[in-house]
Amino acid sequence: MISVRYFLKPFIALVKIMILMKLGGSIITNKEKPLTPNRNSIRRIASYLKNVDEPLVIIHGGGSFGHYWSVKYDMHTKPQKYSAKGVAVVKNSMVELNSIVLESFLESGLKPYCLPPGDFMIGDKPLIKKVKEIPKIAKTGLTPISYGDAMWFGKNKFYILSGDRIMGVLSKLLHPRLAIFVTNVDGVYSDMKSKRLLSEISKEKPITSDVTMDVTGGMSRKIKEAFRISKGGTDVFFVNGNIPRRITNAINGKSFEGTIFSG
Ligand code: IPE
Repeated sequence: MISVRYFLKPFIALVKIMILMKLGGSIITNKEKPLTPNRNSIRRIASYLKNVDEPLVIIHGGGSFGHYWSVKYDMHTKPQKYSAKGVAVVKNSMVELNSIVLESFLESGLKPYCLPPGDFMIGDKPLIKKVKEIPKIAKTGLTPISYGDAMWFGKNKFYILSGDRIMGVLSKLLHPRLAIFVTNVDGVYSDMKSKRLLSEISKEKPITSDVTMDVTGGMSRKIKEAFRISKGGTDVFFVNGNIPRRITNAINGKSFEGTIFSG
C-alpha cells in the first residue's frame, strides 16, 4: 500500500525540513590507529556538505578517540559505576575529536554550532524543549554538531551515549526528512563473506536474521537504530563517506548507491 507520505514527498522536499546525518567513527578517524583523526576524509565530506541547500544536523561517532578509550576502560551503553578516570578520558577525547570536526567544517565554509549531547539530554532522556531548538538553529544557516559521549546518568552512574542512539532520539522528536548514516563501507551487506550489498530494507523486504548475526557489533546497533527510525516514517540511508558525492546524491534524490531503510 502506498503511504500518504509518498504523496507528500515532493512537498516535503520543497519546504526543506531537515537532514539528520551521522558521521561514523569509521569515516572520521582511522580506527586501526588510536587517536588518529582522518582529516582528509572530514574535509572532503565537509566540502560536499557545503553545497547542501537544506538545514543539516550532524552527529559524529567516537572511532579511534572515544570508542577506543571506552573499550580500554570497559565502558558500555549500560548505566553503571565506571572508572572516574575512564569517564574523564573518554569525554576529553570526544571534545578533542569534536573540535577537529568543528575546525574542519569552519574551514570548508560551513558554520558549525557545537552542541555537546549534555545540552539536550538529562540522564538518558531527551530534554524536549532543547531538542526542539535544534532545527531552529539549523534553519539560521548554522550546522549543529553533536557527538557520542560519556554521560552522567544519576546515582553515581555513567553510560556511553552512542552517536547512533542520538540519531534515534532526535529522529523520534524531530522527524527529519532523511536520516543518513555515513560509514566507510558501501551500506549493509547480506553477509560478510559474499559482501552482497542490500539496496533496500523495508516492511516488504525485511532483513533476515542472518544479516544481523553476520555483521559486526557496531553495524548491528546501527541497523537496529535504522529500523526504529524508519518505523517512525523517516527514510534512512547508509552511504559510503569515502565517496562523498553519494551523500549529496542521496540528499538530492539522484541515483542512490547504498542501503535504504524505507520509512
Ligand atoms: C561513540 O559513539 C561514543 C563513545 C564511545 C564516546 P558511536 O558509538 O556512535 O561511535 P562510532 O561511530 O561507532 O565510532
